[in-house]
Amino acid sequence: MRISVEQAIDLIRTGEVVALPTETVYGLAGDATNPNAVARIFEVKRRPADNPLICHFPDVASIYPYVMSIPKQTLRLMETFSPGPISFMLDLPENSPLFFATCGRSQVIVRMPKHEVFLKVLKELGVPLAAPSANTSGRLSPTNAEMVELDLGCVGIAVVDGGSCSVGVESTIVDARTEGTITILRLGAIGRQELQRVLPEVEVHYGATPAVVPGSRYRHYAPATPLYPITEHSLTTLSPGSVLLLVDEQREQIYQNCSAEQAVTLRLVSLGRLSDMEELARSFYRRLFELDRLGVSAAYIIPPDFGHSALGKALQDRLQRILTTHG
Ligand code: TXA
Ligand code: MG
Repeated sequence: MRISVEQAIDLIRTGEVVALPTETVYGLAGDATNPNAVARIFEVKRRPADNPLICHFPDVASIYPYVMSIPKQTLRLMETFSPGPISFMLDLPENSPLFFATCGRSQVIVRMPKHEVFLKVLKELGVPLAAPSANTSGRLSPTNAEMVELDLGCVGIAVVDGGSCSVGVESTIVDARTEGTITILRLGAIGRQELQRVLPEVEVHYGATPAVVPGSRYRHYAPATPLYPITEHSLTTLSPGSVLLLVDEQREQIYQNCSAEQAVTLRLVSLGRLSDMEELARSFYRRLFELDRLGVSAAYIIPPDFGHSALGKALQDRLQRILTTHG
């Protein structure tokens, strides 16, 4: 069911949860300070109970009352990149109203999303919103309202249609609490280069261990269709009619590595072009989601080299989690 922003505000005020657009992916949003709303998010998503939720705020000023402090370095990044596709780890005081949203941890991850619908809801309600991606745990993050409906419509989740997400992959998560270092806890549209342009003297590390970010332990997958990685040399072993995902730049390589008869029987499904990373990222989850509509029992991909841009690394990371490597 599609609802208006006003209806979404009323529902969240009564402790309900609704799906809202952000610039990264759609979020399943509820009042982060209301234990019942938080419990409902875990229930709807069938999310493991130890996997905390990102808390969303409209601006920096609204974060201060909920955290111990905003360290100088973090503030600098917030001033540069927020609202936008980046989230920050901060320390919580004891007895925080965000206890349930953060699964009792001493840190919270905060984000200021850049989407007028989400910002309007945040400003009207005046409470932080817990909002994980609006998908059943383990499925693809939705980047449009239809994807949300197909996944969560059957469990009664309504969605505000805010169009297709402009970024398409989940926010970068950073821990910038320690002066002199930034740890990237999840790759996203803002990467090492972008961070170092703002803080050139700071060391940037990658450090997404499951102990720190519980979600990095879990695999993401396209629900019905297993996606197997193959090499160009195993192309000839694919049976006729096999679905092969590719980026446009791989077309030639594929034709060179299989016979003419085989080339006509393969069903090639394009993910887009490496030369337009932004569009590739924007449509990535949607195109993987559409795989299921082909009604095939498996699909294949020669994992492309997405390159070293922030988005390229983020896509590389997401594809790795989606691939079926056994079974
Ligand atoms: O772009 C995004 O960040 C989207 C949109 C909706 O804002 N949200 C999103 O949330 O991707 P979710 O729940 O799908 O991913 C949050 C990740 C998970 O891996 C979770 O384990 C981690 O952040 N996380 C959240 N709060 C945490 C905390 N307090 N401590 C450690 N990890 C946390
Ligand atoms: Mg998620």
